Amino acid sequence: MKIEQLIVPCLMGTEGLVADELKYNGFEGVAAENGRVRFAGDLAEGARANVILRCGERVLWQLARFPADTFEALFQGVRALPWEEWIGKDGAFPVRGHCLDSRLHSVPSCQSIIKKAVVERLREKYNTAWLEETGPKYQIQFSINRDVAEICLDMTGAPLYKRGYKQESNVATIRETLAASMVKIARYRGREDLIDPFCGSGTIAIEAAMAALNIMPGVRRSFDAENWAFMDKGIFDDLREEYREQERHEKLPILASDIDPACVEMTRENARRAGVDDCMEVRRADALKMQYPIERGVVITNPPYGQRMLDIEQARRIYRLLGRQMRGCEGLKKYIITSDEEFETHFGMKADKKRKLYNGMIRCDLYMYFRG
Ligand SMILES: C[S@@+](CC[C@H](N)C(=O)[O-])C[C@H]1O[C@@H](n2cnc3c(N)ncnc32)[C@H](O)[C@@H]1O
Repeated sequence: MKIEQLIVPCLMGTEGLVADELKYNGFEGVAAENGRVRFAGDLAEGARANVILRCGERVLWQLARFPADTFEALFQGVRALPWEEWIGKDGAFPVRGHCLDSRLHSVPSCQSIIKKAVVERLREKYNTAWLEETGPKYQIQFSINRDVAEICLDMTGAPLYKRGYKQESNVATIRETLAASMVKIARYRGREDLIDPFCGSGTIAIEAAMAALNIMPGVRRSFDAENWAFMDKGIFDDLREEYREQERHEKLPILASDIDPACVEMTRENARRAGVDDCMEVRRADALKMQYPIERGVVITNPPYGQRMLDIEQARRIYRLLGRQMRGCEGLKKYIITSDEEFETHFGMKADKKRKLYNGMIRCDLYMYFRG
């Protein structure tokens, strides 16, 4: 078994959760860094990480790491790699990446240098003047950080938050990886009542149900590495089969509701695609008039922020009325994400704890209330 370095980029604020997921699932050499987590393993382990990770954004296989403070060093470092062992004669190899705190700071220039180096190497090895690039995709991902280049191949393809179940979503939907992170932070395991009263397209409730029923997020989608010539054929199919056998199907005390009938329909459809529609309840309800459990239960939700949906005053009116409606629910834990820094004032309760999380580019806080 060849030990490789694998890297999982993730949303800022979720590094610890991704590291925990990897450790819990038996991966080795796990180390959290800013915006990503490293682990060690062979490519089969990389495939497994793709199928099971709920909070990570993708899995990169690191090919090389070398100092590169000039274009020449970058070119020579990339050209020296045995690309012909990985990329077939017809393979497509787009290049993307980023530069940070480095002398090489122009991303487009680094992209074209790397592309040129790979093209030169492959043209020489395949003895051809023209590479068709019509075959499987080998996405090259680079980073240049403090004058050190890292060159990776992206095993994942479409990001991991694209589980395949959310073909339709409302305008202000959150990423599946962020919803899964909120569920993990709340330590929800399917035993107590869970309510998302602003469910939109259902992401939080569906992720909670999948986690509680041991449904792996990658079992209903495909990955770029499945088409790589040097990967064991069938490795992803075997993983999907293995994990699907471990899924459970049972009714859970999960309620997803929204005031908008179109969102209710969308949530039902998405839950059906995720295989959890018969495990949870979905209905139309006004979150500001609902009765919440008093003794025991958890609300995990993403109400309107006043950015993509409603204006800030309308959003704050919702927080005020929601706070009033939930007052007295002593045993109800609440995990509410919003970008409004004045949320606590309007909701009328100081959070026990706050955690900074990013919903795409929007900086948010997860306000956590452990008691009513
Ligand atoms: C930010 S979106 C939720 C997105 C959701 N987390 C998802 O992933 O799709 C907020 C949702 O709150 C709903 N909403 C607004 N006012 C409401 C109310 N009074 N009661 C229930 N739902 C409401 C909207 O219809 C919208 O779907």
